[in-house]
Amino acid sequence: MSENLTPTQSAPVPAQAPARAEQPRRDRSEPMFPDGPVADPAGSHHERRIRSFQPRRSRVTPGQGEALRRLWPTWGLDIDGLSRLDLGELFGDPALPVVLEIGFGMGEATAQMAAADPGTGILACDVHTPGQGNLLNLAERGGLTNVRVANGDAIILLREMLAPDSLAGLRVYFPDPWPKKRHHKRRLIQPEFLTLAASRLAPGALLHCATDWEPYAEQMLEVLTAAPEFENTQADGGFAPRPEFRPLTRFEGQGLDKGHVVRDLLFRRKAS
Ligand SMILES: C[S@@+](CC[C@H](N)C(=O)[O-])C[C@H]1O[C@@H](n2cnc3c(N)ncnc32)[C@H](O)[C@@H]1O
Repeated sequence: MSENLTPTQSAPVPAQAPARAEQPRRDRSEPMFPDGPVADPAGSHHERRIRSFQPRRSRVTPGQGEALRRLWPTWGLDIDGLSRLDLGELFGDPALPVVLEIGFGMGEATAQMAAADPGTGILACDVHTPGQGNLLNLAERGGLTNVRVANGDAIILLREMLAPDSLAGLRVYFPDPWPKKRHHKRRLIQPEFLTLAASRLAPGALLHCATDWEPYAEQMLEVLTAAPEFENTQADGGFAPRPEFRPLTRFEGQGLDKGHVVRDLLFRRKAS
């Protein structure tokens, strides 16, 4: 370009970016939310294990951040894998049946279910920090005393922290579909997961899954049907009609917009 300029011409001077106000840099050794959720609380990235979630760095809005700082000490639980949970103590009511929801995302559906059924406690688990802040805000606004927000990998929660037969139900709505074949091993609903989940569910408790990814729906039906600890609530051995208590979730809405078919699976933990 410069070789085409005559000696009297000069190259255009790029417009200078306006000087930016100096932002104080965050000291990364300091936790972002001192009284809030801890990143990877169980230190489970040291464990050689396949993850069912995608590590994401999503921006936390000021409102979510404020909720994480203020409400976490009361409603939050870090999945550190170190202590056995007393669910009666956690919810302040030893008689309250508690269901675990794995992967609540932004938590809108969780808050709706908690509001609709105050007689059930929802232990809502996800690794997604903005969603944790969002659900805390929704719980506070709705006065939902029957929700607790757990931060970390649900596998550690089930394996290390929940007592056998302690759950009244398990909900897994629109788990990451991991569509590529080489990622199928990362799907949550697998035989080993079902063995672990069954051991923490009370006999008769429901395992409710939903997905809009047809191949995953087929896989779920196959592995659930083959799991000796579970029985299908549907006499025909197929998918279930969507139960009224499950609200439309955010991921479900996105799937429906793409024309996906949504499948619900309702299985019961057998008596023995
Ligand atoms: C596709 S999103 C669905 C969110 C929500 N259920 C919905 O339908 O809008 C799946 C969520 O599951 C979470 N997740 C996946 N595996 C998990 C695990 N092992 N423990 C905790 N959360 C997990 C992800 O972080 C993500 O937020």
